[in-house]
Amino acid sequence: MSAVLPIVVVRGVVKVHAKDKAPVVAVSGIDLTLNPGESVALVGPSGCGKSTLLNLLSGVDRPDEGEVRVGGLNLARAKEHELVDLRRRVVGVVFQQFHLVPHLTVAENVALPLSLAGRRDDARVLALLERVGLVKRAGHYPGELSGGEQQRTAVARALVHRPALVLADEPTGNLDSAAGAAVLDLLDELRRETNAALLLVTHDAAIAARADRTVRMKDGRIVTMEP
Ligand SMILES: Nc1ncnc2c1ncn2[C@@H]1O[C@H](COP(=O)(O)OP(=O)(O)O)[C@@H](O)[C@H]1O
Ligand SMILES: [Mg+2]
Repeated sequence: MSAVLPIVVVRGVVKVHAKDKAPVVAVSGIDLTLNPGESVALVGPSGCGKSTLLNLLSGVDRPDEGEVRVGGLNLARAKEHELVDLRRRVVGVVFQQFHLVPHLTVAENVALPLSLAGRRDDARVLALLERVGLVKRAGHYPGELSGGEQQRTAVARALVHRPALVLADEPTGNLDSAAGAAVLDLLDELRRETNAALLLVTHDAAIAARADRTVRMKDGRIVTMEP
């Protein structure tokens, strides 16, 4: 008997973009389960549907067919406010282009998921700034930081609210290998502390090898899962 409930359950999911124009079947019939604390690398050629799958898991997009459950919530049927709540409390996201808010300081960016949920935890924000080595830059703006520093800020922001699921879409794609390695180390350390599951999109075989499992997609489908 398994006592651990999966954080993600995806069953038979289909997502079609641009239904009114030239429809693109971005995801076609995916099954995937993620358990708490598990790290999974998502690999596959450009356009195979990786980002679409992440958007379905964060509740940004809804599936056209099938089932997506995150933290027990059925995202296909959830009300809009439930999806907003999911994004604020259950999911943390890191993007390739960092997506920091330019007119907020580093500390304010890190605190954003808390403030959006009506919470404040200065000690947690400071602890994360310490962990990512940016205490001295707390009052700076993203435009004053290097790419690596911006992404470390984004990692702190993605983990500050202790999400159960962390989604990272090519988080080192814009960084040199040293800065990228630092970002991945932090992402892994921080999410292990909270036993969060991680789904990480990457093109880099060495990065994929760090994960517990690798899921390979092609043409909107999962073609292999290792191990
Ligand atoms: N908003 C959209 N409208 C139309 N087509 C889209 C949209 N988003 C993605 N697509 C298409 O869906 C397919 C999968 O895209 P995506 O999930 O971004 O792939 P990946 O992240 O693996 O590169 C691609 O053919 C892409 O062009
Ligand atoms: Mg993508």
